[in-house]
Amino acid sequence: MKKAAFTAAVILVALAIGKVAQQDRAQAQQSSAAGGLFPNDFGPAAIDVSSYPKQYQETYEVFLQKCSVCHTIARTINSQFLEMSEAEQAQMKKTQPELFKDPKILEIDPHIWSRYVHRMMDKPGCPVGKDGKRIWQFLVYDSIARKTGKNFASWKKMREKLVKDFKIQHPARYKELFNEGQ
Ligand code: HEC
Repeated sequence: MKKAAFTAAVILVALAIGKVAQQDRAQAQQSSAAGGLFPNDFGPAAIDVSSYPKQYQETYEVFLQKCSVCHTIARTINSQFLEMSEAEQAQMKKTQPELFKDPKILEIDPHIWSRYVHRMMDKPGCPVGKDGKRIWQFLVYDSIARKTGKNFASWKKMREKLVKDFKIQHPARYKELFNEGQ
């Protein structure tokens, strides 16, 4: 009886080790297709678009489908990217200078979404195709709506927490992404 219990325990341990190895492999595979982890990945995976113009509500559905093939949609939703023309930036620097303080919270550039949508479209297996343009327009609109003005405070709070937790949980990757933290 004792021997049977011992054998059962050995089998269970072996199964558990096998299972962990399997999970590790799956995770490693997933993160190599997705290009490693980002703080963004751990935030909310949906946007409340109920107040957005109809065209953007429609594009939101396309975005959800097409930009979640290789990595979680949260990576885009919680990204620090904000696209504003030079003229819009000059205006914002007067009305809301705090937007420009920390590129980990907001990285502001006149073409940042356009550049990244193209970068994604160049990856093998990307299904975005002809929807690239409208997804880009959606991302520009959504980032301004959700990350600036009266929404900046809640954006900053959420993003700061993602970055802070990521630095603790994934210190090597944090360094790689933000080139600091020694
Ligand atoms: C074919 C796979 C694939 C698809 C589809 C895809 N991505 Fe990505 N995405 C990646 C990989 C890989 C990375 C890792 C960083 C890199 O290579 O740029 C990434 C990284 C990102 C990042 C983080 C960039 C950073 O440096 O902070 C954002 C934002 C992003 N993707 C947005 C999108 C959007 C928006 C779409 C849909 C238009 C999309 N992705 C579709 C593969 C994909």
